Amino acid sequence: MSLVRVGFIGVGGIAQSRHMPAISSVQDKAVIVSVYDTNKERAKEVARTFKVDHVSDTYEELLSLVDAVVISTPNKFHSEIAIAALQADVHVLCEKPMALTVAECDEMLLAAQKADKVLAIGYHYRYMKNAQAAKKVMFANEIGTPIVIRVQAMRRRKVPGWGVFTNKELQGGGSLMDYGCHLLDLALWLMGDATPVEVSGSQYNTLSKMPEQVNEWGDFDYETFDVDDHVTAYIRFDNGATLLLETSWSANIQADIENVSISGDRGGLDVFPFHVNQAKHGMLLDTVAPYIPGEEDPGISQAIHFIDSCLGLAEPLVKPEEARKVSYLIETIYKSSDLKRSITLS
Ligand SMILES: NC(=O)c1ccc[n+]([C@@H]2O[C@H](COP(=O)([O-])OP(=O)(O)OC[C@H]3O[C@@H](n4cnc5c(N)ncnc54)[C@H](O)[C@@H]3O)[C@@H](O)[C@H]2O)c1
Repeated sequence: MSLVRVGFIGVGGIAQSRHMPAISSVQDKAVIVSVYDTNKERAKEVARTFKVDHVSDTYEELLSLVDAVVISTPNKFHSEIAIAALQADVHVLCEKPMALTVAECDEMLLAAQKADKVLAIGYHYRYMKNAQAAKKVMFANEIGTPIVIRVQAMRRRKVPGWGVFTNKELQGGGSLMDYGCHLLDLALWLMGDATPVEVSGSQYNTLSKMPEQVNEWGDFDYETFDVDDHVTAYIRFDNGATLLLETSWSANIQADIENVSISGDRGGLDVFPFHVNQAKHGMLLDTVAPYIPGEEDPGISQAIHFIDSCLGLAEPLVKPEEARKVSYLIETIYKSSDLKRSITLS
């Protein structure tokens, strides 16, 4: 296989703005052969825009035409479609979060193992240049063993007013499922091998249930809003490290904050903006990176890497087992919030 035939299932916002342009740019190795969406008119329109010759009537039809598929449907359909694709011997790039539940993630993992096909998950923050730089610094042991990790994915009054983001049945959750998951994934990847042993979480939607809304990202229905808009969590790991997570779509804060900050036993780092904080040579010594080489658009790096993985030229950067770990923590944070107590993990 020298040219990977790619299909798209679910061609809404993220497929059109990220995945289709990105896969189209990998011209010498990939070609988009068909699209499918339950909204047939949208599928036809997208096919016209991206000059794709074929629109499938079902996802099963699409799977019979392709070597690889990008799944960008609401979260509820990720596992069903990914499993069908893997059973049809098709490589999968599935949007994040991996699935609605850990049980669904496990079924996807099993299907990937049986099929021996690529199952990559769209945690694209890992492809950002700052994230790649941070990983290099971690790998070089400049930070040492992480002690305290702070994860902030905080937006001020920006509930997504489009799509189905505020629908629990289709998405499984709100700010944590949609946004916090990216930064949590990034933190776990940077930390390396550490096993969570205790989780305490709280979720809120007080602000989004208020009739009077000031929201920068469009209108939403406060009455049907049934997901979280603010989540906090405290995660303890087997090596004694702790992770403090805060994520929100709609916090009453001065300004948005997006960062992973790691304080380790040899130094510390912030990912956004990139900054290394150390105490050495008898002084406080900071390092910044005025230039980090690499691709600016993480969507393009993700697409290239996925296609190379399909061709056997690379290993997926976001392994499904790692994405499952994120889903496991998300599920446990929600559970802890519902039970109003911390949860010890075996
Ligand atoms: N990685 C990121 O930063 C990022 C950003 C946005 C969205 N996402 C993820 O991408 C996915 C889609 O989000 P979006 O913003 O594009 O949503 P969207 O609502 O804009 O698009 C979803 C599309 O899927 C179609 N669809 C619904 N059910 C389907 C089914 N069963 N089969 C085929 N098509 C179906 C809809 O008609 C729609 O066109 C979600 O999982 C979301 O979490 C990821």
